[in-house]
Amino acid sequence: MANHLIKLNDKQFRLYIPHSELQQAIEKIARKINADMEGKNPLFICVLNGAFIFAADLLKEISVDCEITFMRMKTYEGLHSSGRIKEIQPLEVDIKNRTVIIVEDIVDTGFTICRIKEYLSDLSPKEVKVATMFFKPDVLKCDLTLDYVAREVDNKFIVGYGLDYDEKGRNLKDLYILNEQ
Ligand code: IMP
Ligand code: MG
Repeated sequence: MANHLIKLNDKQFRLYIPHSELQQAIEKIARKINADMEGKNPLFICVLNGAFIFAADLLKEISVDCEITFMRMKTYEGLHSSGRIKEIQPLEVDIKNRTVIIVEDIVDTGFTICRIKEYLSDLSPKEVKVATMFFKPDVLKCDLTLDYVAREVDNKFIVGYGLDYDEKGRNLKDLYILNEQ
């Protein structure tokens, strides 16, 4: 599997992190969330589309009383963050006085999470935490605290495990990285 290559649209990607490692990283942050969230009945907010697989795997490891809902927004086109945040669809759940945990696929520049945090803060929650599957520490451009990071990654374009390249690759169980020639 070490040199496993795949092609999505016009680009080639190579295996980067196998699913077993992703699963271990998730179990580790889930233990921390379970310890921190005892008695808080947190509301997990899964950011669609990218976080759907991470949210499913993470929530299976959560043992405290909790709820989950979904929100949607989109910024990426092709291989680069456009920096322009598209409209956030209104949340369907009242988060007043609740502990909420944003569940995100990846934090790159951080603009998306910052924007979501701003939006949620206006709805008077008790506290807002962030859980992200992947984090590119070299690219972060805003002042942001990430409470739960499953796995740091290199500053390269990645796909799989919910992440897409122009909507392709979200279904891949393992994580792949752009293979630059
Ligand atoms: P940010 O606003 O720059 O932090 O971008 C965050 C969003 O861009 C994520 O929610 C992803 O949907 C997308 N994104 C960032 N990096 C990648 C990547 O390497 N592959 C695929 N999508 C990415
Ligand atoms: Mg996303």
